[in-house]
Amino acid sequence: APDGLAATPPMGWSSWNAFADRIDDATIRAMADAMVARGLRDVGYTHINIDDGWQGKRDAAGVLQPNAKFPDMKALSDYVHARGLKLGLYTSPGPKTCAGYEGSYGHVEQDAKTFADWGVDYVKYDLCSGEWFYADADSVQRTYYQMGAALRATGRPMIYSLCEYGRFAVSSWGRQVGGHLWRTTGDITDDYKTMSDIGFVRNPKFAPAGPGGWNDPDMLEVGNGGMTDDEYRTHMTLWAMQAAPLIMGHDLRKTTASAMRILTNRAVLAIDQDALGVQGRRVRADGQVEIWRKELANGSAAVAVFNRGTAAASVTLTAADFGTRTVGQLNELWSGRKVQPTSAVTIAPHGSSVLLMKAKLQ
Ligand code: GLA
Repeated sequence: APDGLAATPPMGWSSWNAFADRIDDATIRAMADAMVARGLRDVGYTHINIDDGWQGKRDAAGVLQPNAKFPDMKALSDYVHARGLKLGLYTSPGPKTCAGYEGSYGHVEQDAKTFADWGVDYVKYDLCSGEWFYADADSVQRTYYQMGAALRATGRPMIYSLCEYGRFAVSSWGRQVGGHLWRTTGDITDDYKTMSDIGFVRNPKFAPAGPGGWNDPDMLEVGNGGMTDDEYRTHMTLWAMQAAPLIMGHDLRKTTASAMRILTNRAVLAIDQDALGVQGRRVRADGQVEIWRKELANGSAAVAVFNRGTAAASVTLTAADFGTRTVGQLNELWSGRKVQPTSAVTIAPHGSSVLLMKAKLQ
């Protein structure tokens, strides 16, 4: 990426999945505190993103103000920064945002400057209201270019997150408009059906993205309670294998022990954050079992096995699955166990397994 931002997929937290617009200054501060106290910052989750619902009205000069629930955005930004974290804000190009708050229409440059003045590090730009000026691909690209240029013009480095839902082949132009990540689908919800449709079917349809510009299959639902642990591990495995941004979406104060294990597995996070930035893909399907591969910077590859069925399934991996001539001893990253290359791997219903070869083999 020319600006050096988002060299690896952004990691952090966003308010939307757990709170929608029921957010305020105290809640955001509590999330920043929990991020540090639970050790989430120290495994790489650094962004605290305030999604829709923080906005108030404009003042007489047109400067966007936060609403009464956010008395002092600069003070909140300082609070987040003092904890070694970064602050994100949300806006939308139309007159109104998706949740009906004040949008940036007619004030794009001014809002970018306001965000920079507050010390914002990450801006999510949605696509709600004002349909008349983004009916087609050209106008959507212009819309995103305008905010991208406005953010750059402030001189403050800000990660730019595009949210046009993959309507117009966004992975082919997201970088050109200054984007660092771009949503490829509609909104995730906290259920296996929606999550797996996004992870297995929809996000992989986009041209593979990489360092400085990532396909974004939406925020994580891990910790919100609507899926089993096996399904949440599959959620993490799919996102990590596709080098997706890892933006948590639950109440961090209520992180259960099992959610904690899923969100902080360092070996799985390292697959997501691998410097090569390859977006892994399916290399084999065998009934309900899918085998995916992601090449890594050290010359090795991670292989994930998914069971999309509702009965346990097993599969024996081959060297071809790893893209090598032979397979050495494997480490299973969720269990931490060693697996002999010739033994079958058994996967729980809706479950997954991630395997790394111990040594690089050709
Ligand atoms: C859209 C986005 C969500 C969220 C809401 C806020 O639905 O896709 O991620 O930002 O708007 O209103």
